[in-house]
Amino acid sequence: MTSVKPEDDVLRVVGGSPLEGTIKVRGAKNFVSKAMVAALLAPGVSVLKNVPEIRDVQVVSDLLRLHGVSVDVQARDGVVSIDASHVELADVADVDTLSGSSRIPILFSGPLLHRLGEAFIPALGGCRIGSRPIDFHLETLRRLGATVDKEHEAGIHITAPDGLHGAKIHLPYPSVGATEQTLLAAVLAEGKTELSGAATEPEIMDLVAVLQKMGAQISVDVDRTIRIEGVKSLKGFTHNSLPDRIEAASWASAALATRGDIFVEGASQPEMMTFLNVFRKIGGEFDVRDNGIRFWHPGGDLKPVAIETDVHPGFMTDWQQPLVVALTQAKGLSIVHETVYENRFGFTKPLVSMGATIQLYRECLGSLPCRFRQRNFKHSAVIFGPTPLKGQDIDVPDLRGGFSHLIAALTASGPSTVHGISLIDRGYEDFRDKLAALGAQIS
Ligand code: EPU
Repeated sequence: MTSVKPEDDVLRVVGGSPLEGTIKVRGAKNFVSKAMVAALLAPGVSVLKNVPEIRDVQVVSDLLRLHGVSVDVQARDGVVSIDASHVELADVADVDTLSGSSRIPILFSGPLLHRLGEAFIPALGGCRIGSRPIDFHLETLRRLGATVDKEHEAGIHITAPDGLHGAKIHLPYPSVGATEQTLLAAVLAEGKTELSGAATEPEIMDLVAVLQKMGAQISVDVDRTIRIEGVKSLKGFTHNSLPDRIEAASWASAALATRGDIFVEGASQPEMMTFLNVFRKIGGEFDVRDNGIRFWHPGGDLKPVAIETDVHPGFMTDWQQPLVVALTQAKGLSIVHETVYENRFGFTKPLVSMGATIQLYRECLGSLPCRFRQRNFKHSAVIFGPTPLKGQDIDVPDLRGGFSHLIAALTASGPSTVHGISLIDRGYEDFRDKLAALGAQIS
């Protein structure tokens, strides 16, 4: 991965003024990276459009290149062309070095098993927001007929010399990654696969659309069951990515927290309805237009809210972190019950030292069935506001937590120094330029 110079990894922020103006969001990180892996399934050219210039796209491009695939990235135009006519096994140590902070390599398994009969994947990275196991992924691959060997020091060796076959699979939890794993592995498996308990996030539905364009047979039932009829071969695709609803909600939260007014060009309403409901409950205003959504603070007090994160169509876990900063400015007691990750409130510690009143609880402060009930995880937060925030030195803990810290620094009075901001480049395109365009005082 490209290394970042220490001086480029720090942002100095003078907060206290509203963010105002227009910025643009492009394709969704959590779709684009998967669609790029899907291209590996077909020995031909695939073209993906509306691709953001973020580090995760760079990482997946480099991972594909390591596997002998040719990738052409026209970053400014947002077009990535992938020619997967030739595929070879990469050195697992190289994959490990490259992917360090990404969980994408595990998704290479299905396509590599179909193309080469084997895959070798390193232990996985990802944000520090929980233990993030891969047991569902490996069990899915086993059920489809792969042999999983975890004895190697370098990583996990997965083989299927005679190909994969359809199977009945049930996910104990609607995992996004494990659903994508099943799709990518089952489309070319022999026979039918029935996946129950699947995740149905819009990014997954866009991946299903890509696979359908490639020639796959996939149907999605109302009860979270996905049925896949394996086909013999797939062809390349051309596809325009859906917009990034996490980035859009992050900017919306920044508008609310800083009492600003941001037009997020490219934001799309259908994938954001649950967020928009909550935004309105807090007292934020929005206006849905043909080419995006304008979000603003109408003046006066914001109202507190109780949220529980959930899989789609619930309130996304990735929306929670930036919104918590806005909730520190709402009048009264807000409650956030995080039911997707056991450890996604680490980012609140710096907020507290900036002046926020946030308490974490092990109890489920909500009514959703939650896997973390009776376990020792602080996965509920109570936020009391409004509290003025004061600028500080902050270390970015993870992608979304890092963006939340930026919002906090912009909301706070006085200067802040945010360290480790290159982590934010993983998922927020041009965020420094966008902040400058919105009038933020940054250097
Ligand atoms: N889980 C398991 N075993 C598995 C897989 C998942 O126990 O084998 C658990 C996880 O530990 C977690 C829950 O299931 O508690 C949900 O995880 P999921 O598999 O849905 O998450 P993911 O696929 O690893 C993607 C996004 C995340 C996003 C989640 C939930 C990508 C690259 N990442 O992760 O995005 O939070 O779905 O929507 O698509 C981000 O963008 O900052 C980010 C973390």
